[in-house]
Amino acid sequence: MKKYVIANFKMNKTDGDITKYLSTLMPIVSGSEAQVILALPSVSIKSAVTKVGKNGIIIAGQNINENDFGSYTGEINAEMLKGVGAKAVLIGHSERRTHFAESDELVNKKLFSAMKTGLISILCIGETIFDKTNGLTEKTILRQLTKSLKSIYANELKNIIIAYEPVWAIGTGVMPSNAEISKAVKVIRKALADVYDKTIASNVAIVYGGSINDFNIKDIVKISDLDGVLVGGASLVPEKFGIIVNSFDKVKK
Ligand code: PGA
Repeated sequence: MKKYVIANFKMNKTDGDITKYLSTLMPIVSGSEAQVILALPSVSIKSAVTKVGKNGIIIAGQNINENDFGSYTGEINAEMLKGVGAKAVLIGHSERRTHFAESDELVNKKLFSAMKTGLISILCIGETIFDKTNGLTEKTILRQLTKSLKSIYANELKNIIIAYEPVWAIGTGVMPSNAEISKAVKVIRKALADVYDKTIASNVAIVYGGSINDFNIKDIVKISDLDGVLVGGASLVPEKFGIIVNSFDKVKK
């Protein structure tokens, strides 16, 4: 399966910074087989889409409002993102769940909205440190997955990438072992196989996110059942992100 290397800029970089960033990144990753997706602040999506042109990098949003159009001051919906050339969007990132009280039910509505518009959804799930220390990792992942995907048809899964991001690993420098990541990927695939079927489950891209950097990526690419990574902090430096992207080409096939 194709590998995905997704950057999440969060609330970082001005439009000018992003233009400079792309000038550095584009030549570094131009020969890579991995699909690069950059989730950018919404105000920079249009200029980034123009800047990357036809070079294959996908520009994504970091969030959408679940409604079509209307009186929701300050919000942006899926149609608007699509209108400026975004092809994907992060849904249910843990920072949205924590700081903006996004529930699994809301995440489900946002997924529907993205699906209707044809945007690729990068659905983020993952346990908190409380879940982990109380042996609730699997239960949490399964709850988030089943509630978020409620009533989503099998044929829509081709437009969904699942990002397994343990909340305790995000921005902390602490990471699960390869075995723990592998186990989570298996749990996710089995849950998808139970709800849909085995073939569909095996075709869904599952990526890992949380404290990935240009050093530890060498180990992460060895996880055979993993289809890529979602990178926050280390994605902000184009040279580092470029190393992460190109690491996937070095894996023995
Ligand atoms: P991090 O963030 O790579 O800085 O840990 C990952 C994320 O929030 O998606």
